[in-house]
Amino acid sequence: SEVTFRYRDLETQLTEPDRLRSKPEVSDLGFGKFFTDHMLKIYYHSQLGGWQRPMLVPFENISLHPAAKVLHYAIELFEGLKAYRGVDEKIRIFRPELNMRRMNKSAVTAGLPTFDGHELIKCLNRLVQVDQEWVPHGEGSSLYLRPSLIGIDGTLGVVQSDSALLYTILCPVGNYFKNNSSISLLADPAFIRSWPGGCGDQKMGSNYGPTIRVQRIANGKGRHQVLWLYGPDHQLTEAGTMNIFLFHIDENGEKVLATPPLNGLILPGIIRQSIIEMCAEWKEFRVEERVITMNDVIKLKNTDRLLEVFGSGTACIISPVSAIEYQDAVIDIPTTEHSYPVYKKIKENLEAIQYGHIKHPWAQPI
Ligand code: COI
Repeated sequence: SEVTFRYRDLETQLTEPDRLRSKPEVSDLGFGKFFTDHMLKIYYHSQLGGWQRPMLVPFENISLHPAAKVLHYAIELFEGLKAYRGVDEKIRIFRPELNMRRMNKSAVTAGLPTFDGHELIKCLNRLVQVDQEWVPHGEGSSLYLRPSLIGIDGTLGVVQSDSALLYTILCPVGNYFKNNSSISLLADPAFIRSWPGGCGDQKMGSNYGPTIRVQRIANGKGRHQVLWLYGPDHQLTEAGTMNIFLFHIDENGEKVLATPPLNGLILPGIIRQSIIEMCAEWKEFRVEERVITMNDVIKLKNTDRLLEVFGSGTACIISPVSAIEYQDAVIDIPTTEHSYPVYKKIKENLEAIQYGHIKHPWAQPI
């Protein structure tokens, strides 16, 4: 049976010119509201020998059996990656091989078929090339790629799905958050996103659905996002759909960038990894992956050693945090009040790579 699909088998059916969609204004983009003219579909049927040939087709609805496992038991995983239009007009994708590795890990967890990530990257590059006019012009905007893998057996047994669909849609996107300023967080230990032995470190849709109610509670308290805590010591894990970073001064007066470790409770973010690697290379401050508790945050704040808090993710890239509400008190954080904050320097350096201002192996021309 086919252990992977192959790019060389790609079948292409282009959208009729009179059915091409009109492109939105960059100022209207937001996140995930507009879709391009084409999509990628790859079926897997174990009865038919596994992976079928990849198909690049006009953007269309998908038809599923009403018992499809994805609709009942959330047998689903997804990825998010971005293509950028560079200053030289070349289109580059940011570290797609890391998304492929993570996607295959999620597939194993979901009992869905794995594949050769290089083959999917080649298919994705072709899809972006076909829809290249949809890659927005102007920094701050990009084309978001959303690969997704779903279990589609039309049977209600809570067992592995013998058939699956891997598909990818594309969205031109602007800023993830409505106004691109700093955000505030609600930290309430009553809500738990992830736990040891669970799937909180996999990019499965089932991790995100249950957060919506909590997000609304945070919004009701005037906070933008949830700061997810774990354990009796209220460890910081993630902020909304982002990884979280603290920039602070340690007991010896040295500057440290800290982020929670990959201990099974957090999503192994690609921007997270890139920030760690980039800052370690700078050697301007120490970079630590370590458990951070709310008591640590309070102590740093009370001794004036908490400099910056920010979230990271493919959608937002970097999002500065200005306040954390915790146990009926508000911890204000001076993240945006420094003359040249570290979060800004990181963001500028990532953007310089993404938009092709500097040549870097992380940004791969399609
Ligand atoms: C990201 O930060 O890229 C995400 O995971 C956001 C996505 C769930 C909308």
